[in-house]
Amino acid sequence: DEFQKGVKHLCERGITKVPRKYILPALERPILTKKGDATTFKLPVIDFDQLQGPNRVHALKSLSKACEEYGFFQLINHGIACQSIVDMIEAGRKFFELSFEERSKYMSKDLRAPLDCHPLSDVLPYWPSSPTELRQAAVNYSEKTRFLYLMIVEAILESLGLVATTKDSDENDSDDHIKEFRDGSQLLVVNCYPSCPEPDLTLGIPPHSDYGFLTLLLQDEVKGLQIQHETRWVTVEPVPNSFVINVGDHLEIFSNGRYKSVLHRVLVNSLKSRISIASLHSLPFESMIRPSPKLINDANPRRYKDTDFASFIEYIASHEHRSKNFLESRR
Ligand code: SIN
Ligand code: FE2
Repeated sequence: DEFQKGVKHLCERGITKVPRKYILPALERPILTKKGDATTFKLPVIDFDQLQGPNRVHALKSLSKACEEYGFFQLINHGIACQSIVDMIEAGRKFFELSFEERSKYMSKDLRAPLDCHPLSDVLPYWPSSPTELRQAAVNYSEKTRFLYLMIVEAILESLGLVATTKDSDENDSDDHIKEFRDGSQLLVVNCYPSCPEPDLTLGIPPHSDYGFLTLLLQDEVKGLQIQHETRWVTVEPVPNSFVINVGDHLEIFSNGRYKSVLHRVLVNSLKSRISIASLHSLPFESMIRPSPKLINDANPRRYKDTDFASFIEYIASHEHRSKNFLESRR
């Protein structure tokens, strides 16, 4: 049965109609312009170089503003070598070029089944063995993004006033804070969105928030990502050599609601297929997710209950990624 072979297969067969099961109810469909897209929107830009230099304080202010108002930002000058990124995208692309039979070996309903990256030595044997360069590219890419993630976490903690800005204070202060994050989980998700004959009837990914702490997203030059901003869906303009970074549910809770985990979704288009690679970073699986005690006070009462990671995962698995509702239920 052709349907069993997935969307990519249908697209390759040149279907001209979206199969009924993928057609969304009218209210959930995207509104596209004649050219087949929506107007694009520039996310706040955070310059990683600036964060490391004498302008750190200023860059931290921009960072907290972006996390409060958009839940998203574009990170430029991130320092990851272009080659690592190109290799990862190419390996991902080749994976999706494999036959359906080959790819289906790795299909799973387990949310941890995407490339689980931590600890690398334990998980590597479960990764796809084909294309042959995939494992090496993903090892390299996940190590680089993990390092970058931890640098950004330090900046986030500092922007929330949880670690001191000046180096003359106790150095261990920051180390203690970052410790739990170092043991955090990381998943790599490679998304392939084939071109679609009727992009106004469906979505590549339905609206969801990311459950983790932060997501580092690489999108190619084809747009598609939309975020909810001031009650509207806006399309994020792709910026070459940068990451789209977004606040996840764990960070919203950790910041006691100051930083927002924002709903986003993905459009498809009739002309081009699109690839994106999301590196999802969360606290360790055994962690409790709770507001940082330092961010609870008379002016800012606690806004979320404690939640264990397992409950998060359980909810998401049974609600098709609609974790935002779960977050609401933890208020
Ligand atoms: C995601 O939100 O998981 C993917 C976003 C994208 O493909 O741009
Ligand atoms: Fe997402």
